[in-house]
Formats: sequence, C-alpha cells, structure tokens
Amino acid sequence: MRVLLTGSSGWLGRTLGPALRAAGHAVTGLDVVPSPETAVVGSVADRALVRQVLGDHAIEAVIHSAALHKPDIERFDRQAFVDVNVTGTLNLLEEAVAQGVGRFVFTSTTSLMICERIRAGAAGGARAAEWLTEDSPVQPRNIYGITKLAAEQLCRLVHREHGLPVVVLRTSRFFPEADDMAHAIVQSDENTKANELLFRRLTVEDAARAHLLALERAPDLGFDLFIVSAPPPFSRSDAEALIADAPDVVARCFPGYPELYARRGWTMFDSIDRVYDPSRAAARLGFVCRTGFAQVLEALAAETSGQLTASL
Ligand SMILES: NC(=O)c1ccc[n+]([C@@H]2O[C@H](COP(=O)([O-])OP(=O)(O)OC[C@H]3O[C@@H](n4cnc5c(N)ncnc54)[C@H](O)[C@@H]3O)[C@@H](O)[C@H]2O)c1
Repeated sequence: MRVLLTGSSGWLGRTLGPALRAAGHAVTGLDVVPSPETAVVGSVADRALVRQVLGDHAIEAVIHSAALHKPDIERFDRQAFVDVNVTGTLNLLEEAVAQGVGRFVFTSTTSLMICERIRAGAAGGARAAEWLTEDSPVQPRNIYGITKLAAEQLCRLVHREHGLPVVVLRTSRFFPEADDMAHAIVQSDENTKANELLFRRLTVEDAARAHLLALERAPDLGFDLFIVSAPPPFSRSDAEALIADAPDVVARCFPGYPELYARRGWTMFDSIDRVYDPSRAAARLGFVCRTGFAQVLEALAAETSGQLTASL
C-alpha cells in the first residue's frame, strides 16, 4: 500500500517507517523536522499541504503518529497543541475521506486515561491499583491528553459519518528517556523500564508492530480502539495487593524474579498504582507484545539483558 506516515522523524516514526517498508509498503513520511525517513517537511496543521501530499503520492492509507506530546507541554502553549493534535488530525481525516483513502490508523495514548486522582496513587490515598480498559471513564489531566481525546473523538465521528475505517491505538509508554521520577528507580533506567513492562510500557518495536497490524485489519474492524501495552501478569483481584506490596505480587507471578533482580542490584517499585489491560487488542486485533517482563527475566537469566533492554 502507499502509506502516509506522519511523525516520520520521531522516535516511533523512525522505527515504523522502515518496518512498513520491510512489509512491502511504499511510505511517504511527513514531519516538521527533516530526517532520512521524511520525504515531506511540513505540518499536519497545514490543510493545503495535507491535501497536496495525499494527492501527489496517491496515498491509500494514513498512519497518523505526529503530535505534540507530553514533553512538549513545557515548550508549547495550549493553542499549539490544539493546532497540531486536533486540527492536524481533522485535516488528515477529512482530506483522507475527500481523496478516497481506504484506511487510517491513529496513534493515541494511555496517558489520557490518567486523571490527578490515579496519578496520586498510594500517596494520594488509593487503596487499589486502577485497572484500566478501553471502557474506563476518562478525564485527561493536561492539554496533551485533552487534545488526544478530542482527536480520538474526531476519528470516531469521521468513521461514523463517512465510513472511513479507523483504528485508534492507545499506546502506553515506549519513550527511551527517563520520566515520572515518582515511579523511577533512580539508580537504573533499565530497571525502571523493566518494572514498567509489568503494567505501563511496551518496546518501540512492539508499538510499530501494533501499527502494522492495525493497518492490515482496519477495513475488517471499521472503527475500533485498543490499549496496546506489554501483557501484565496480574489479575483484577491483585489490585489491592499491588498498591500495598507490589514486590510480593510480582514474586507470586514470577518466583525467580527476586534472585535475578538481586544479582543485578535491581529493585521493584513498592507500589503499582495502575494496570493497562491490553486484552481487547489480543482478542480483536490479534496483537500481543513480543517483549514483556517475562522476556526481560529470561534475558537476565541468560545475562544478555544489555542487549535486550537496549531497545526499552
Ligand atoms: N513516546 C511514548 O512513550 C508515547 C506513548 C503514547 C503515545 N505516544 C504517541 O506516539 C506518537 C509518536 O510519539 P513519539 O514518541 O515518536 O514522539 P516524537 O516527538 O519523537 O515524534 C513525534 C513527531 O511528530 C512530529 N510533529 C510534531 N508536530 C508536527 C506537525 N505539526 N506536523 C507534522 N509533524 C509534527 C515531530 O517533529 C516528531 O518527529 C505521538 O502521537 C505520541 O502522542 C507516544
């Protein structure tokens, strides 16, 4: 397929572009930042440019992953978030319909599911971890989440009114940099990321694979929205114990983990305040991450963790 990939110079785009080409697609990258993955330098907020790119390249499918996201909150005002994340998405959806594009994949975020109360976790008095599914009520806490939610709703609206097949992927975190120090193991970024694979992270390679599958399945699905995250080993009945004593719950799931962690000087978070449940993506999209906590433990046991977790 001839695919327009927005955000092609970004962290996800730089993995997704080559993955799309390896799967046989012809990819046109669009980004405000130049890179070898980006054929067209410009903004999704520029309607005329979007129209021209779709037409000039006879685009058959759009993967829209360009966005201002959480780290950009420091540098851009709310209007810029609305322009890029809301207007940009509307431009792509409406021009896709006008030009007969057959399918659309939108990269959203599990971050929009986190309100201040969930974020406060045990420190804020939570007695159980939040179990988050696609049906959980959402009340985004910042302009990033608010504009991503609005963009999701535009996807839903344009599908309903025009029939454009759209798959929305609410991905959990796959960024490489450290963040959210309240939850971090200060001594080791690898340790933090390994812990997060239990409940709120996936690798960028898995995020790219989810987009490829969504692209393939969009016409069968019509409209659908999925959480994509590494499979958590927990069940809902663990929610209270996860807040009270996460290491104990993890040890019940993976009896070998304390020794493997101790050998490397790693530690587990004391408390886990949320679990993103990707089971709908497994059941309906047929997508399950290849890398989860179990694979990290296998790598630790084989002492090849440097190699495995390099992509975390
Ligand atoms: N990184 C994560 O952990 C994470 C988690 C959940 C969802 N997401 C979503 O995944 C997508 C990709 O994230 P990423 O981590 O690769 O971010 P990134 O910042 O590395 O990439 C985003 C790209 O979008 C481009 N962009 C920004 N404004 C643009 C505009 N007006 N027009 C065209 N391009 C523009 C940027 O230049 C950048 O290259 C985003 O939609 C983000 O919201 C990311």
